[in-house]
Amino acid sequence: MQEILEELERRREAARLGGGQKRIDAQHAKNKLTARERLNVLLDPKSFEEYDMFVEHRCADFGMEKKKVPSDGVVTGWGRINGRIVFVFSQDFTVFGGSLSEAHAEKICKVMDQAMKVGAPVIGLNDSGGARIQEGVASLAGYAEVFQRNVLASGVIPQISCVMGPCAGGAVYSPAMTDFIFMVKDSSYMFVTGPDVVKTVTHEEVTAEELGGAITHSSKSGVADMAFENDIEALLQLRRFVDFLPASNRKDPPVRNWHDPAERCELSLDSLVPDNPNKPYDIKELIHKVVDDGDFFEIQPDHAANIVIGLGRLEGRTVGLVANQPMVLAGCLDISSSRKGARFVRFCDCFNIPILTFVDVPGFLPGTAQEYGGIIKHGAKLLFAYAEATVPKVTVITRKAYGGAYDVMASKHLRGDVNYAWPQAEIAVMGPKGAVEIIFREDRNDAQKIELRTEEYRQKFANPFIAGHRGFIDDVIMPHNTRYRVCRSFDMLRDKKIENPWKKHANIPL
Ligand code: HXC
Repeated sequence: MQEILEELERRREAARLGGGQKRIDAQHAKNKLTARERLNVLLDPKSFEEYDMFVEHRCADFGMEKKKVPSDGVVTGWGRINGRIVFVFSQDFTVFGGSLSEAHAEKICKVMDQAMKVGAPVIGLNDSGGARIQEGVASLAGYAEVFQRNVLASGVIPQISCVMGPCAGGAVYSPAMTDFIFMVKDSSYMFVTGPDVVKTVTHEEVTAEELGGAITHSSKSGVADMAFENDIEALLQLRRFVDFLPASNRKDPPVRNWHDPAERCELSLDSLVPDNPNKPYDIKELIHKVVDDGDFFEIQPDHAANIVIGLGRLEGRTVGLVANQPMVLAGCLDISSSRKGARFVRFCDCFNIPILTFVDVPGFLPGTAQEYGGIIKHGAKLLFAYAEATVPKVTVITRKAYGGAYDVMASKHLRGDVNYAWPQAEIAVMGPKGAVEIIFREDRNDAQKIELRTEEYRQKFANPFIAGHRGFIDDVIMPHNTRYRVCRSFDMLRDKKIENPWKKHANIPL
């Protein structure tokens, strides 16, 4: 028996050592943790239950039969984050560069299948040189097995990818289909074709970091949701993030103990909106002052910053926040912000997360770049997402709600459950100046007349009461009471039940 136990320990030790000390040192030299060290940071102490430690690849070509490393380049299993179950896979770059073999893919698929049965999130820590070149099509088949599971799990269990090393070629499509992508600055990159191919085909000279690094994807492309300084920061923030999420679409989001009273009054909000309607203000100040303890997890802070999205809590319960940001492009909706907002609204709706929307939107961004880029289809995504969502929806118009953008931003007409406006809200087809220049075109050269008409229009339409007369706004609330009013509304809406008509699936304008 003693011998058997020693043999078991010897095998475990070999698996723990991955590709060996030299390669572990090389990983550390790149400021990267190993696959197992990462799981130690991500999961609660002693909660990790590892599967398939003894799995080896089955390749017998190119001398691979002599190179077998137990675990085959990916550490898989389940553990807990603040006591809640999550399934994990962590690619081990020290073993064949974390490349994906048939056996490696089977290990990932096993935890994904288990997560679906149990109803718990899957977190993937990606650090891989891509398809195991020696295995050829068997590796490609492995990727496709993972892709298929990503798709079937979408909207059933939360899927989060943390890219902590290379992720290139078709391999990028697994993270791309998960709900969120976190990346680590300087050590991770994602691209469909690398700098060498780019140079050959388009003659562009670009580094891997510029082409697909964390900053590129979290600001320019919007592929990544967050960029972090190092592995530790990324993993600790991932722990914080998972705390907001329900385990699956069958569960409600977790409720945290809270001590922040719902009736907390924020007098400073009464002067948040400047008197001059063209002056910006920071909508994040409102968000921080409304959510429990000012704890807001912003998603995609550096991409399409004219819309702010993220997760917070009200009376301990998770809510998704969507807000136009007057500080960037005056809060206009454009292609990027519509896509960003739409995907987030759909995420919240999949996972029973109520949506709180703050509106200050002067309209859609004009211009050929927007029209040629398809703002019609992209703007429709946000409209579609809000209209389709059946979770509780509470909306507060803080200032401008003009034109089609008024309709889009969780208006009463898109089944907004409770729609509030602040007293200085302006709900109209367009701003006073633009409106007067159109309806009094004949007076356009008479500055005095235009001034007078503008003032008349402002008095008549630039307020919340016209919408209030029709019941499109349920109440005009004092800014300092916003937290109290939205908390009460979500409390009232807790057991809301509505269903969309039966269909195989909708056809959102992609
Ligand atoms: C097998 C691989 C590998 C791979 C790396 N290694 N990538 N083994 N298959 N795809 C091995 C190396 O041979 C080396 O082994 C070890 O991992 C570390 O690699 P290095 O090159 O020394 O590391 P580094 O200099 O950091 O470079 C990392 C890298 C580079 C940029 C990822 O290894 C690289 O370019 N690899 C090939 C990437 C690639 O072309 N993959 C296929 C893409 S197509 P030793 O024994 O020396 O330590 C694809 C399609 C997916 O992925 C399709 C899905 C549908």
